Amino acid sequence: MRPSAPLVPRAPCAPGDPLRVGVLVSGSGSNLQALLDVARDPAHALRVAAVLSNVAGVKALERAAAAAVPALVEDHRGRPREVFEDAVDAALRAHGVEVVVLAGFMRVLTAHFLERWTERVLNVHPALCPSFPGMHAPRQALAHGARVTGCTVHLVDPGVDTGPILAQAAVPILDDDAEAALTARIQAEEHRLFPAVLAALARGDVRLVDGRPRAYGLDAR
Ligand code: GRF
Repeated sequence: MRPSAPLVPRAPCAPGDPLRVGVLVSGSGSNLQALLDVARDPAHALRVAAVLSNVAGVKALERAAAAAVPALVEDHRGRPREVFEDAVDAALRAHGVEVVVLAGFMRVLTAHFLERWTERVLNVHPALCPSFPGMHAPRQALAHGARVTGCTVHLVDPGVDTGPILAQAAVPILDDDAEAALTARIQAEEHRLFPAVLAALARGDVRLVDGRPRAYGLDAR
């Protein structure tokens, strides 16, 4: 049974008033690109309001600039963690961000930041959580002899890839699979699933069921 209250109280978004997401990155940004691609449609429920990297010069920043989205850098080095997180928070708010998306962001956010964005920070992880948290998840899956892995979109809590699960997609592990090939197949699923979950969030279709968040209508536009 569908509960009545959406997770993010603002939703569903009205036409012409899309959900403004801020995307935190550290590298290539292929998941960012998937979001930029869907948000190019002016009728889409998502808008990428800003992209922020903790590393200068990364490809994700080029992708943002090519899409005419503000591309920001906040270097984490040489600053206390809370000072860095305050700067990230201020930059996101200055751009009217409503929901924060981690797309290959290689810093762990602490409760200092997360308490200001309760249930408004989402991550994509290249495994079926709670299996294989942390770095090199496809490599971990191969090392364990798993036959199925996948990707998970989840809310972020102060742990590493431990937050409440919103949606998952399974990816089979093939005989003699190589890490690069498996990673590419998982990422193809991420590029489909992450925009779909965010669109569901914008529609008000991420809801609490028995205290757990769940995304509905992932095949909808
Ligand atoms: C993705 O595989 C994601 O699951 C993980 O980091 C990777 C980022 O890749 N959190 P990209 O920068 O989006 O290409």
